[in-house]
Amino acid sequence: MEFDMAVLPGDGVGPEVVAESLKVLQVVGENFRHSFHFHNGLVGGIAIDTYGTALNEETVNMCEKCDAVLLGAVGGPKWDDPQAKVRPEDGLLALRKRLGLFANLRPVKVLPMLVNSTSLKPEVIKGVDLVVVRELTGGIYFGQPKKQWQTPEGRQVVDTLAYSEAEIERILRVGFELARSRGKKLISVDKANVLESSRLWRQIAIEISADYPDVELRHMLADACAMRLIQHPSEFDVLVMENMFGDILTDEASMLAGSMGMLPSASLAGTPKGKTFGMYEPIHGSAPSRAGQNMANPIATILSVAMMLRYSFELETEAQAIENAVLAILEQGYRTYDIMSEGKIKVGTKEMGDLIGQRIKCQ
Ligand code: IPM
Ligand code: MG
Repeated sequence: MEFDMAVLPGDGVGPEVVAESLKVLQVVGENFRHSFHFHNGLVGGIAIDTYGTALNEETVNMCEKCDAVLLGAVGGPKWDDPQAKVRPEDGLLALRKRLGLFANLRPVKVLPMLVNSTSLKPEVIKGVDLVVVRELTGGIYFGQPKKQWQTPEGRQVVDTLAYSEAEIERILRVGFELARSRGKKLISVDKANVLESSRLWRQIAIEISADYPDVELRHMLADACAMRLIQHPSEFDVLVMENMFGDILTDEASMLAGSMGMLPSASLAGTPKGKTFGMYEPIHGSAPSRAGQNMANPIATILSVAMMLRYSFELETEAQAIENAVLAILEQGYRTYDIMSEGKIKVGTKEMGDLIGQRIKCQ
């Protein structure tokens, strides 16, 4: 089969980890007889330097024409001035909004061979296998008004957490569908003891749960969830939540896996049933201090490509081929700096990409 992919490497280590994941994808293409056509574009700091804007129309149009988008990372100290009119992150937020990528899936799986490379006790994180479904195009990130102004008494500021019923319902349905395809347990995270938006969220969750009698729905307050995530993370299956709760809790959840360098993500424009348009990116940022040194762990991006095969191309066998290859290479003891431990073999970005690619060839 033939697929068109928009490739937006972005800043910092972005281009390095993207290059490795494309290498792996080429091997998948050869092995399983698919053609992946790559269409390159700029986003983030590099787009600011080139066009003066973090995302231009051409790039959006190009992404819209493709079957999926692969993104590296955006940002860096060069563009960090808080007074700056345009920031690399604006490109990412605009891309999510323009492409309608409302459902952000962030799986966190603790691999048995990495159980000792986290700061948490092995017995606490053993068996962790959860997915956070984060609402990505609404909530407090995008609500209006959003502004700062001057009053006689001093500066004033407002951000708005707004949702329509339709926006809440569609993200909750993604949570239910995903839970149905996994462990059948859904936690809806909210702050219903304080926020009106959360009270509607909870209400809608209860209403639509009637359509999913096979899924056990529970509600959890966001603060309690933060606690529970490090106290007893293996009890979670699927969690669904508002944009900013998801931003915060996924950074916390990522630490269960030891390194951000291991975690992929998918941002989908629909419910993950059949082929769904999406953008795929590692959870980690652009790590400017590691850029250009062949250090960064490419596994998060390589696993993001596996998610792309699964959700946007409906190639489950191929997705599993990548995931199995990653496991096998880790099993053999190869590690990038971020997951290195005594007695293991330290490799760079390129070597890790090569090893995973070669492993797929042997399958
Ligand atoms: C994330 C990031 C982004 C977010 C930033 C870079 C705008 O933290 O994807 O979690 O806040 O959504
Ligand atoms: Mg974040």
